[in-house]
Amino acid sequence: MNSEEKFKNIISHCKEYGFIFPSSEIYDGLAAVYDYGQNGVELKNNLRTYWWKSMVQFHQNIVGIDASIFMQPRVWKASGHVDGFNDPMIDNKDSKKRYRADVLIEEFIEKINSKIDKEVEKARSRFGEKFDFQTFVNTNEKTLGYKREIARIEEILKNSLEKSDFSSLKNLIDELGIVCPISGSKNWTEVRQYNLMYSTQMSATDGETELYLRPETAQGIFVNFLNVQKTGRMKIPFGIAQTGKAFRNEIVARQFIMRMKEFEQMEMQFFVKPGTELQWYEYWKKLRLKWHLSIGTNSNNLKYHDHLKLAHYANAAVDIEYNFPFGFKEVEGIHSRTDFDLSRHQEFSGKKIQYFDNETNSNYTPYVIETSIGLDRLFLMQLCENLVDEQLENGETRTVFKVNPILAPYKIAILPLVKKDGLPEFAEKIYNELKFDYNCFYEEKDTIGKRYRRQDAIGTPFCITIDYDSLKDNTVTLRNRDTMVQDRINVNEINKFLFEEINWKKLLIKL
Ligand code: GAP
Repeated sequence: MNSEEKFKNIISHCKEYGFIFPSSEIYDGLAAVYDYGQNGVELKNNLRTYWWKSMVQFHQNIVGIDASIFMQPRVWKASGHVDGFNDPMIDNKDSKKRYRADVLIEEFIEKINSKIDKEVEKARSRFGEKFDFQTFVNTNEKTLGYKREIARIEEILKNSLEKSDFSSLKNLIDELGIVCPISGSKNWTEVRQYNLMYSTQMSATDGETELYLRPETAQGIFVNFLNVQKTGRMKIPFGIAQTGKAFRNEIVARQFIMRMKEFEQMEMQFFVKPGTELQWYEYWKKLRLKWHLSIGTNSNNLKYHDHLKLAHYANAAVDIEYNFPFGFKEVEGIHSRTDFDLSRHQEFSGKKIQYFDNETNSNYTPYVIETSIGLDRLFLMQLCENLVDEQLENGETRTVFKVNPILAPYKIAILPLVKKDGLPEFAEKIYNELKFDYNCFYEEKDTIGKRYRRQDAIGTPFCITIDYDSLKDNTVTLRNRDTMVQDRINVNEINKFLFEEINWKKLLIKL
């Protein structure tokens, strides 16, 4: 199965098994807006819980808040979003499709990178065991030529973005001969800027005010810096975490839930003493990668991507990218944001936003390291990483969602073998006991084989089956999702077994 087919399968699996539905589907949907279904919401809640625990519960010096989506509009002037939150867009005149100009160029660079990969693979098979990757990429003329070309393009891209020089971006697209993926033509418009914020009106007795739907949750943290620092008696370094919806008028919405108009972010701003920020940046960069590995993501599918263009307020920035079926793409950003945000809010609000350092007896504006992850992209990552089709010994295939058990929508399915002779009553007793601690699934219908397959498809790590022997000896069959091994277990042991297999500590301990 090629990667395009794999991605299509993931999208249809999400729909078929109640993970994600197109929004307002009975009215033909709404572009780039999606709803989470009965299984999707459980997985999403679990991902959010893990993030929250690993940030707030796991650090003495990080606390959480829940700021509102609507904010005083001056916030967005101060943050720079009113004037600068724009994407450089270009239209193809034949397909009438709109693209981000920088993304078109980055995708072109990716194509050159795959040419390098091909050369490496060819050489690897030619030289066999003697092949040395480093020597090859540093000496092979063709590969070196590709690398020089990438460096040249990246340099032009970086300069054009930094100077907002759109004619140079357009020239680069023309020079590289980039074609529209839909029409295949090079018939492009000029590059233009589009602001990404949605606005709405708030009515009051003295008239109407234009408000914005927040395009990031971070500003809710910055404007509450003093509130939290003072009431929580927080000492620097300390962090404030928040999860919540953000809204962006993404003109080019693509790739399912990768780029949506309404999405959820999980952000943490870590306030530090000026001069120590790069050391804390390295700390968070490493810890966030470790976090992704702790859920079981294959390290080959994760990589850092240093920003070519640093935002004017940042002095270091990196993305953690995941190898989606459509290539490596950003899931999380770690930014060293200097004192830009707090200083701007101080300037625009007229309120002094500073920290008094007892040790040095002086005031300063803290510097900030931000970790910002998209919950929806993290969700998609789980499906790309863990949804597998397995060939069984009997020739059949099964689709299994091998997500980490603690993140699975249901932890256990309780399945009476037949719908009579006291088996459902016995099973319900177990359900009523386990439901205090675990999200349990109960089902009586269909053959047991079909029921197991449905649980595999939604990622339930364990199934227990109640049969006639259960009534005699108080035991049930316990089936493991990944190995499909079935063991007999006494009903009184189930709770202890589940506690050992499924608990947050198993993940948190890896951090
Ligand atoms: N406060 C910093 C900030 O908002 P960002 O890189 O624009 O930085 C952070 O966004 C994360 O939010 C991204 O890494 C991505 O996972 C997620 N994200 C951004 N735009 C998104 C969109 N349109 N749809 C889904 N997720 C998005």
